[in-house]
Amino acid sequence: MHKPGLYKHFLPKKWLCLFCSLFLLTTCTSPKEESQYVIGFSQCTAGDDWRKAMHEEMRRELAFYPGISLKIKDAQNNTSKQIQHIKTFIKEGVDVLIVSPNEAAPITPVIEKAFNEGLPVIILDRRTTSNAYTAYLGANNYEIGQIAGKYIASLLKGKGQITEIWGLPGSSPAQDRHQGFTDALKDYPEIKLNPRIEGNWLKDTAQHKLSVQSELFKQSDLVFAHNDVMALGAYEEFKKNGQERQVRFVGIDALAGPRGGIQMVHDHILDATFLYPTGGEEAIQLAVDILENAPFEKENILQSTVVDSTNVRVMKMQTSRILSQQADIERQENRIQEQIRIYQNQKALLYFLSASLALSLILGIATLLSLRAKQRINRRLGEKNQQIVQQGNEIEAMATQVREATEAKVKFFTNISHEFRTLLNLILDPVEDLLALAGDRGNRDLILVRRNTLRLLRLVNQLMDFRKIENHKMKLQASETELIRFVQDIREAFQRTALKRNIDYRFYHPQAPLLVWIDEDKLDKVLFNLLSNAFKFTKDGGFIHIRIQTDQNAGTLCLEIEDNGRGMSPEHVAHAFDRFYQGEYYRTIGTGLGLSLSKELIKLHHGQITVKSQKGLGTTFQIRLQLGQGHLRPEEMLTQDPQTKPEPDKLLVRSQMEELLESTKTNSAVPSSDTSVLVIEDNADMRNYLRHKLSEFYQVQVAEDGLEGKTVALEHIPDLIICDLRMPHKDGITLIKEFKSDLRTSHIPIIIISAEESIEKHIQGAQVGADAYLTKPVNFNYLQELVQSIFRNREILRSRYTLQLDLEDKPQNLNSVDKKFMNHFVSIIEENVANSSFQVDTLCHEIGLSRVQLYRKVKALFGCTVNDYIKDVRLKKARQLLCENELPIAEIAYEVGFNSPAYFSTAFKARFELTPKEFKEQHSPSGK
Ligand code: FRU
Repeated sequence: MHKPGLYKHFLPKKWLCLFCSLFLLTTCTSPKEESQYVIGFSQCTAGDDWRKAMHEEMRRELAFYPGISLKIKDAQNNTSKQIQHIKTFIKEGVDVLIVSPNEAAPITPVIEKAFNEGLPVIILDRRTTSNAYTAYLGANNYEIGQIAGKYIASLLKGKGQITEIWGLPGSSPAQDRHQGFTDALKDYPEIKLNPRIEGNWLKDTAQHKLSVQSELFKQSDLVFAHNDVMALGAYEEFKKNGQERQVRFVGIDALAGPRGGIQMVHDHILDATFLYPTGGEEAIQLAVDILENAPFEKENILQSTVVDSTNVRVMKMQTSRILSQQADIERQENRIQEQIRIYQNQKALLYFLSASLALSLILGIATLLSLRAKQRINRRLGEKNQQIVQQGNEIEAMATQVREATEAKVKFFTNISHEFRTLLNLILDPVEDLLALAGDRGNRDLILVRRNTLRLLRLVNQLMDFRKIENHKMKLQASETELIRFVQDIREAFQRTALKRNIDYRFYHPQAPLLVWIDEDKLDKVLFNLLSNAFKFTKDGGFIHIRIQTDQNAGTLCLEIEDNGRGMSPEHVAHAFDRFYQGEYYRTIGTGLGLSLSKELIKLHHGQITVKSQKGLGTTFQIRLQLGQGHLRPEEMLTQDPQTKPEPDKLLVRSQMEELLESTKTNSAVPSSDTSVLVIEDNADMRNYLRHKLSEFYQVQVAEDGLEGKTVALEHIPDLIICDLRMPHKDGITLIKEFKSDLRTSHIPIIIISAEESIEKHIQGAQVGADAYLTKPVNFNYLQELVQSIFRNREILRSRYTLQLDLEDKPQNLNSVDKKFMNHFVSIIEENVANSSFQVDTLCHEIGLSRVQLYRKVKALFGCTVNDYIKDVRLKKARQLLCENELPIAEIAYEVGFNSPAYFSTAFKARFELTPKEFKEQHSPSGK
């Protein structure tokens, strides 16, 4: 289905026009053809039967002329009305004007006007007073009057009184009839006329006028009325007076039909009437002749005849027949009209069907054309689509390129950031060593190097944090923290500076504890940043106040850091948190990252940070945080064991603080010549730096990557491994996993050092069994402390179970591989306790380790040699046998694998500080 718009598109305008024209053509050829001519007929009255008969005749005649229409206006015997009608016809522009004047004289001027204007005028029945007309049609009224006079004279036999009832005196038939009548009576002097009655052509008027002249009833032998209806009126009036039998009545018109004059003669109401034809049919014929420019007569006189008792029967029969034929004709005509109507309807239907067919054809063609157009458009669309797809592919390829380039850039950025951190660390540590050597009088240049290195380090850290925020990788790891203590810790870092610079440095806070859900690491960064700024821009002797206020109703707390330092202009306040905005606050720092990062970190807490500042007066930063944990999503809350909580950057940050510079270098490390440490690190500087630093205390082996790391580890079975995570060939996590599942290395403690700070990596490290995780840059002092502490813990553990008398009591906190090893190892020895030829080689063979590997493992786990351990097991078994048995000591010695009882005694005394004999005396059930 087409939408209108589309339809318009597919059906061309010319087709639409063609269709419209065709439709108009079919509908305009309407069933009823438009009249070509109009005949206007001004009728003096339409109220009597004679005029009605005239109209009928006209209508019948007109049926033969479908192109001619007739408009009749009835003046209702009113002359001025008739004048008006004629004027209207003239104005309307009828083609022929027929007038039957009410009165002759008053009508004449308007008829003359019409005639003079060229309008054909037919005067019908009654005349005007001039000759200004196209044609006249009617009977000769003078002649009718004359015939009537002669007929009446003979009827009265030349003697009698006559009452003449006139038509309208101003109308020509009344005047002419009277004139003809009186002229005929002139030859009969004994016939007298009573005073005339003016009936005005109307029955009622005539009757009324007679009724008021009652003397006439007696004086009348005959009443002659100018028409039959007035004669009937007179008859009825005479009848009222019982005089109708003595008087004769004569009329004019002899109209056919039940109320006509012929019927009245037949009914003996009238004695005679004179035929006065209406001329309706002839008038139409005359008009048609005029319209068709056919020849016609100007004066057309209709014939008259008398109807009386002598011919009334014939006349009546003839008129009845005519009437019935007329009725037939009418019926026929009606039928014809009906047929015409049906024909017209059918014609209309045919036209409609033709039009529909034409329309269907047009639509069919249009559809065909539109289909072709559509195909063309589809083809073009297809081509366009192809182009778009091609462009899309190109864009996608470009996008992929861009994405890859971006990813490469990001990767490069991340790697380079890590490199920066490693390198900065490598700068920082020797500088710190040099500064420590120089003591309080440290070289100023070195202090400068150190300070700027720290700044760089901080910026690199901030950049990396930003990257995480941008990648949505920075996640809130909130835990419930006592905030007062937390802030106090940070505050203390600046205490010495405050004292030195005489700054009024206070902390106002509500009663502790104040438990708040915060990400310690992130809030630490924010507060450190704000306090650093405050100290940077506050003059000596100024003040810095930290304030915490809670609003329990609102469920919020407000942490303010206020100073009376340099302050900022309104413009700079407006941009204070914009990234890279270099306002007054940062001019000395060189980047606008600090505050922007702080804002992001507070946003992660679902909090707000705002600043109020006035140039020269000071600055107040306000942090608003929510109390409780309702505002945090489950993934934003730290659910791990607190021990796996990421080590906040505090250690690093603190190490960067001047205040912490003086932290004493730990010397608690006990160098042990045979303790070995393996450093697996791909960065050569870092590797060399660690080797250099660690070799002061341990035997150090190094490896450049994971693969080499594994080989060296298996070769030397070191006492501790320090391992990087990002390394070529084999990454740190995989390597550690392999170490921890390998019997030869499973017991070795491992410290991860990595630039990766994410909690995920920390957790991964812990999961694969690493003992500690340090984030680069590594503070060597801290690393050294850590290594020492691991060794110390191992020692405690070792001494705990090597000193156990009960052999069943084995260390519990070993990994599964080591536990399995230990069970295996101990059971083999126990099985061979009586076997004096049992050797370490047998044990190595049974367990599947080399001598060195077994030696290193046993040394690491038990703190002794394998032989010592075997000897220890034998002696412990001997001790047990001494308690339970009465066997001779020499036998017990053999029983536990000693070849020489003397050596057994010496070894036993060395282990338990008693000779076997002494021990037996003390413990044997029969000993005492
Ligand atoms: C009808 C009539 C006829 C008469 C004629 C004269 O209106 O009165 O009876 O013959 O007019 O004009």
